[in-house]
Amino acid sequence: MKIAVIGSGGTLGSAIARWWNTPAVTFGGESADDRITGLDLPDFNVASRRFTLDTLGEIEPEVIVNCAALRFIDWAESHPNTARTIHVQGTANLRQAADRLGALLVQISCAEVFGDTDPDAPPHTEDDIPAPESVFAKTKLDSERAASEAGDFLIVRTSALFGEAGEQSAGNMADTVLKSSRRTRSLRVLDDRKVSPTYTVDFLRGLRFLIHSGARGVCHLVNSGVTTPASFARALLTECGLTRHEIEPISSQQYGEIAPHSRNLTLSAAKYAALAGAPPMRPWEGALRDFIARRQASLENIGSANDDAKEH
Ligand SMILES: NC(=O)c1ccc[n+]([C@@H]2O[C@H](COP(=O)([O-])OP(=O)(O)OC[C@H]3O[C@@H](n4cnc5c(N)ncnc54)[C@H](OP(=O)(O)O)[C@@H]3O)[C@@H](O)[C@H]2O)c1
Repeated sequence: MKIAVIGSGGTLGSAIARWWNTPAVTFGGESADDRITGLDLPDFNVASRRFTLDTLGEIEPEVIVNCAALRFIDWAESHPNTARTIHVQGTANLRQAADRLGALLVQISCAEVFGDTDPDAPPHTEDDIPAPESVFAKTKLDSERAASEAGDFLIVRTSALFGEAGEQSAGNMADTVLKSSRRTRSLRVLDDRKVSPTYTVDFLRGLRFLIHSGARGVCHLVNSGVTTPASFARALLTECGLTRHEIEPISSQQYGEIAPHSRNLTLSAAKYAALAGAPPMRPWEGALRDFIARRQASLENIGSANDDAKEH
């Protein structure tokens, strides 16, 4: 399958380039020779219609995966036109390209579309009615609507991704905590919202299954279990052996957030789990352990490669 990934330098886009055809993500013996073309700023701007149509027209992908998005919800609140241009117009451009090519448009979206709901309520299902409040969330929902006008589309929502950061990304929940832990032993982390922490590699395994199995419509894809960012950060530091670090749980108000934030960013992956043959989405704690183990192994590899280089 020929797949174009938009926003390929971010957390998810980079993970696709790194893992998509590896045994960590392939499942059930299906072919592992998808051809991935990554597109991102500054060479590729999804907001430019002509450019998007021409570039994708040359690549001729069978699948377009849209990972391009703004990262900071507060920044989007004060830049509504930019948010709308990238999220909504960008997706409309991809829809047009997909329709011309007869390609599947896969729109990656987020739990923010449900707005601010009771943090103790059960995780959102695909049948829940979105009620976004922030500019970010409203434009993400509108991007879903733009994608759903494509002849062939799949919308996949997720929550609180963690994994290696992309070379271009502003970071994700794990990587931000790990970076901060090098500067200080006392970390202030939000504790007034619930999330469904999701390991990028597990997300990709599910995404690959959805695309290859011909799934369509809207589907939630998250590791199971819910927690707060502060509890996640504590588990992450413990897993890394950083036992002398402390997490100070704080509220959105203490953090100084500007945009209206959702207190319940949890999603139910029950619909995904019910699909025949779908590889299971395990609890986030096990996925976190895997992430740390892979990270340690790659740091050790870099260390021994540096030692080899010094010896020569
Ligand atoms: N990260 C999470 O916790 C999370 C949770 C739920 C859902 N999601 C969704 O998952 C998707 C991927 O997220 P992510 O964490 O990988 O985001 P990310 O790390 O911020 O990456 C997004 C990428 O899109 C690029 N981009 C922005 N504007 C663009 C444009 N006009 N044209 C082309 N590329 C553009 C960015 O480039 P620059 O960096 O140069 O701007 C960046 O490389 C998004 O739809 C996001 O909403 C993420």
